[in-house]
Amino acid sequence: MSDTLIILGLESSCDDTAAAILRQTGDQAPEILSSIVHGQTELHAPFGGVVPEIAARAHAEKLDTCIKEALEASGTALADVDAIAVTAGPGLIGGVLSAVMCAKGLSAGLNIPMVGVNHLAGHALTPRLTDQVSFPYVMLLVSGGHCQFLMVHSPEEYTRLGGTIDDAPGEAFDKTARLLGLPQPGGPSVQAEALKGDPKAHRFPRPLLDRAGCDMSFSGLKTALLRARDAIIAEKGGLTVQDRADLCASFQAAVVDVLAEKTRRALATYLEENSAQPVLAVAGGVAANTAIRAGLETVCAEAGVTFTAPPLALCTDNAAMIAYAGIERYRAGARDDMSLSARPRWPLDQSAPAMLGSGKKGAKA
Ligand code: KG4
Ligand code: ZN
Repeated sequence: MSDTLIILGLESSCDDTAAAILRQTGDQAPEILSSIVHGQTELHAPFGGVVPEIAARAHAEKLDTCIKEALEASGTALADVDAIAVTAGPGLIGGVLSAVMCAKGLSAGLNIPMVGVNHLAGHALTPRLTDQVSFPYVMLLVSGGHCQFLMVHSPEEYTRLGGTIDDAPGEAFDKTARLLGLPQPGGPSVQAEALKGDPKAHRFPRPLLDRAGCDMSFSGLKTALLRARDAIIAEKGGLTVQDRADLCASFQAAVVDVLAEKTRRALATYLEENSAQPVLAVAGGVAANTAIRAGLETVCAEAGVTFTAPPLALCTDNAAMIAYAGIERYRAGARDDMSLSARPRWPLDQSAPAMLGSGKKGAKA
């Protein structure tokens, strides 16, 4: 029997419809043969956020095209696929259902196995796909829907060291952009403005730094920014270009400080037990922020921990990470059947208390 596994990954838990084909031979590093992502930004733009019903319908319409494109780009036929990996949660339920039902249909029709994958595990295991990182490592997941520190022990075993109790940083960047009339997604536009501003112009709060542990909060920061903006408008009748840049720079500096300090604490906990080849990996769209990356790199250098960030296309939502997490589960013997259910909430660390608040994907997990 051939030891080569060709796996189709499917992802539809938020506002990206994605399909990917990965091939792994024996215990060699898997190859990404194709990774197709169709975003839905334009569909949701008029509403200022992801509309679950619109997302679900668009996923259902796009999934088959996406799979076809992934097969074509990889040079494989549907008949070559050995197994299917599908995001079964957490996320917007209508979207998650789209790919789960599609995977069930393909699995039954092709008579091949299927494995359900936790979307967060997809992000958390990506450093193993891209850099063959060994367990255990710390993952900081920072996106528009998530913000948490995870100690990754194995594909099935995670310890959540802390996370946001309200907004995710990406949401805070997006709201900041909205408050200042900058284009969406807010992260890149706020970052570009911040480059021209003074990070010390406003002293925004660094929430929860006075509290032990690694939990974070970002919603107060947005309120502070709103107050500062309104105070300037009340005083001068409007914002100058420099005012806007200063607000962005001061906001970003607060996010960097919070993430850096909480990372320092997460690493201290991790290093208490693991000092052999310590690694911190980041994933999620916010990991693209150069100031945040620089802050994290400094903290890692001080702690003697290797910093790694997968390429951006694999940091944001994609199906290659789902296919890879599927390979890890499949190789460990996991199989799902027609009873696989779509789960809106699915924390990786079942023993950790539920996170409050909900991001653009729904519950924070
Ligand atoms: O991981 P992602 O593509 O989607 C999910 O949220 O799942 O992350 C998107 C988020 C958006 O909120 C976007 O504003 C933020 O990542 N983002 C950034 C930057 N690029 C994207 N935030 C800060 N700085 C950036 N350069
Ligand atoms: Zn994600």
